[in-house]
Amino acid sequence: MSSVPSHEKGIAETFDDLAHDRCCKYKSNGLTASSQVLLDFISKNGLVGKTVLEIGCGTGFFALETIRSGAVSCLGVDLSSAAIHEANEFAKESGLQDRARFEVSNAASTRQPASDVVVMDKVLCCYPDADALLKTASDSSKELLGFVVPRDEGLMKPAMKIGAALINLVEKLRKSGFRLYLHPLRSIDQLLSESGFQQANKAKSRFWLVFLYKRSGPALSWRE
Ligand SMILES: C[S@@+](CC[C@H](N)C(=O)[O-])C[C@H]1O[C@@H](n2cnc3c(N)ncnc32)[C@H](O)[C@@H]1O
Repeated sequence: MSSVPSHEKGIAETFDDLAHDRCCKYKSNGLTASSQVLLDFISKNGLVGKTVLEIGCGTGFFALETIRSGAVSCLGVDLSSAAIHEANEFAKESGLQDRARFEVSNAASTRQPASDVVVMDKVLCCYPDADALLKTASDSSKELLGFVVPRDEGLMKPAMKIGAALINLVEKLRKSGFRLYLHPLRSIDQLLSESGFQQANKAKSRFWLVFLYKRSGPALSWRE
């Protein structure tokens, strides 16, 4: 009997199935608008020569874009082994395999190496325990922490709640273990403030919010 929790298995299976299509979509269309904003925020705050950790990297294209934008190296981790396979193949195809590493790992339960920049692009909304992911991310980040979450604020809030409920109903009927979570933005901000980060940039796209936080207080475990 497997000891992998069912939500973790559900997320991994969902993104295993989507991995190839997501990679092809990126190859045809490039980054989505919200991911491009996240990359711009990081670039403007200093990406050249930095190390990057991407939590929930999927097929790795954002992590590889950070190298093309000047990062010295990146590590991407994800629950989906198919996505990680695609990411490593894509790194080889791009000639970046010496500077990019992709591994299967649950970042909510596994400490990750200290990095200058940590990103989570549309990941918090796929995992039930946002605090655990944010703890790993903030413990690992020496300077910047960027993330993208659903636009669950203001006039969009009711629409987001209905959209999430419908998606979750469909996933339940499909007997999939995947669920969409709208974690409260105030709790995210509070946890990051308590971990020594301050919000530096915020932007909206149609469905997403893009945040960049900067470390303002002393770092935690990576300095021990
Ligand atoms: C919506 S996808 C986004 C993938 C990629 N960041 C992108 O924008 O294309 C969310 C990804 O987060 C991963 N994920 C969710 N929870 C995770 C966790 N606890 N640890 C590692 N990866 C996780 C999923 O497997 C999935 O690949």
